[in-house]
Amino acid sequence: MSAAPARIDILSIFPEVFGAPLNTGVLRRAREAGVVTVHAHDLRDWTTDKHHSVDDAPYGGGAGMVMRPEPWFAAVESLRADVAPPGRAVLLTPQGRPFTQAIARELAAEPRLILMAARYEGIDERVREHLADDEISIGDYVLSGGEIPAMVLAEAVVRLLPGALGSPESLAEESHQDGLLEYPHYTRPPDFRGWTVPDVLRSGDHARIEAWRRQQRLDRTARRRPDLLGGRGP
Ligand code: ADE
Repeated sequence: MSAAPARIDILSIFPEVFGAPLNTGVLRRAREAGVVTVHAHDLRDWTTDKHHSVDDAPYGGGAGMVMRPEPWFAAVESLRADVAPPGRAVLLTPQGRPFTQAIARELAAEPRLILMAARYEGIDERVREHLADDEISIGDYVLSGGEIPAMVLAEAVVRLLPGALGSPESLAEESHQDGLLEYPHYTRPPDFRGWTVPDVLRSGDHARIEAWRRQQRLDRTARRRPDLLGGRGP
């Protein structure tokens, strides 16, 4: 991971949607701690026509509009000219590679990300081919735009940056961090409506607790997400 504070630029025609998520929880804390700076920009700032238009009719006909290439190129190029390093320009799209914890770690090693949140009506193919360095999907379903996917990606990445989380140990045991789901958690009371906390967790025997948790992680992953186990499965 980079030593310099990471920088994330987000391009969208609805930059206002990023206000609350950026000012809440880990993203807020990481920003305040100087771990990362996040800048949400209005793509329309890089339009040159009177109506600030970002889309146009598709060549070849068909329903809907297509986002024009010029504002995207102008925006990314001017952001890169303003501050170094150029960073990785990521287009959020259902056609991208499926987002995973491994990709979050890969992106957390970049000193700068430029997230391109397009509206799902479609984007001129030349943006994909000649501007985006990467294309990422947050899942096999369609949203109306890349804004929420961009926040999903930013949140997953920022919490991995050194100094973003209060207690870095909590990272190690999270679901997906090492390819397994998490073990079950309990707190007081020991008996809630007749549902009791497993005895082992109240035994004080740390080796047994650790072995139980490990086994729970394996069982849970095998039952719920056998695809994650690959060769390790039963
Ligand atoms: N834009 C619209 N749907 C999306 C998805 N599933 N992932 C990323 N970007 C999107």
